[in-house]
Amino acid sequence: MRLGCVAKRLIWEISVYEDLSWLLKFGSTAKLLDEADAKVSVFDHGLLYGDGVFEGIRVYDGKVFELEAHLRRLYESTKVIRLEISLDKSKLVAAIKKTVEANSIVDGYIRLVVTRGAGTLGLNPFICKDSTLIIIADKIQPYPKEVYETGMKVISATTIRNHPLAIGPQLKSLNYLNNIMAKIEALDSGVPEAIMYNHEGYVAEATVDNIFIVWDGVIFTPPVETGSLEGITRNLIINLSKQENLEVIEKNLTRFDLYVCDEFFLTGTAAEVIGIIEIDGRTVGDGKPGPITKRLKEKFFEYVRSPSK
Ligand SMILES: Cc1ncc(COP(=O)(O)O)c(C=O)c1O
Repeated sequence: MRLGCVAKRLIWEISVYEDLSWLLKFGSTAKLLDEADAKVSVFDHGLLYGDGVFEGIRVYDGKVFELEAHLRRLYESTKVIRLEISLDKSKLVAAIKKTVEANSIVDGYIRLVVTRGAGTLGLNPFICKDSTLIIIADKIQPYPKEVYETGMKVISATTIRNHPLAIGPQLKSLNYLNNIMAKIEALDSGVPEAIMYNHEGYVAEATVDNIFIVWDGVIFTPPVETGSLEGITRNLIINLSKQENLEVIEKNLTRFDLYVCDEFFLTGTAAEVIGIIEIDGRTVGDGKPGPITKRLKEKFFEYVRSPSK
């Protein structure tokens, strides 16, 4: 909330640095802090080594959307990197809701970050006594406003997505540097987003979104094993497509497929559903978001705003 009203941008931060009194001390309980007072130690391993994980979550009509699915993915990530969240799940949920309320977010976005916490120099994660938890509730608009209606142009990035057998994209870690490099390639080319391929040249995902194409009325998306995050929006779009009696096939896609498809769209918590109208100078379909894209986008918004959600 950058309305010249920074004081309202409240953040929960939980961290215990009890026997490191020369560092910042926040106490042992969750605190709602003004942005200016929410500080992280320079010895936090999230900052020093990217040692941490995160989730991006939407708020629609004042309700936290798909919180269970996001928490499940968060806990899977923390399990893999052996990181304990310094708050039990029910308190975490309460803190998330409280942060949303305190910031008066009706439609917005939550960034939930868990880092290894403050330690000493050196990689050893177990030197860090307690993890740091940050909850930010704010607004987000990842792409220029007009492209949501008219569709977006993208390029193919030369930077590849993480090798699925290294730190696979399933682990939603704080390390986004290859995605950032791809984003730089996009911005240098004058477009807002880049498509990333995997180590074998198959389509993986965009820098913060999953990919779908439509060809002859059938929807295709790369399997997550190819090297993409198992997006919560992706899963929702697959389910909505099935409800609409549209066939969805998970299959490896090539750059050729993206060049010749009839429709192309991206999905993500922040981006929601966004049509792609050009890739690497090739027009997609007739250069406008296609009918299936539009239909699914409509169904998506109906779903997220339905009273039972
Ligand atoms: C790399 C990447 N791919 C895909 C997505 C979309 O996932 P979701 O729909 O769960 O937001 C994200 C979202 O953060 C992402 O960072």
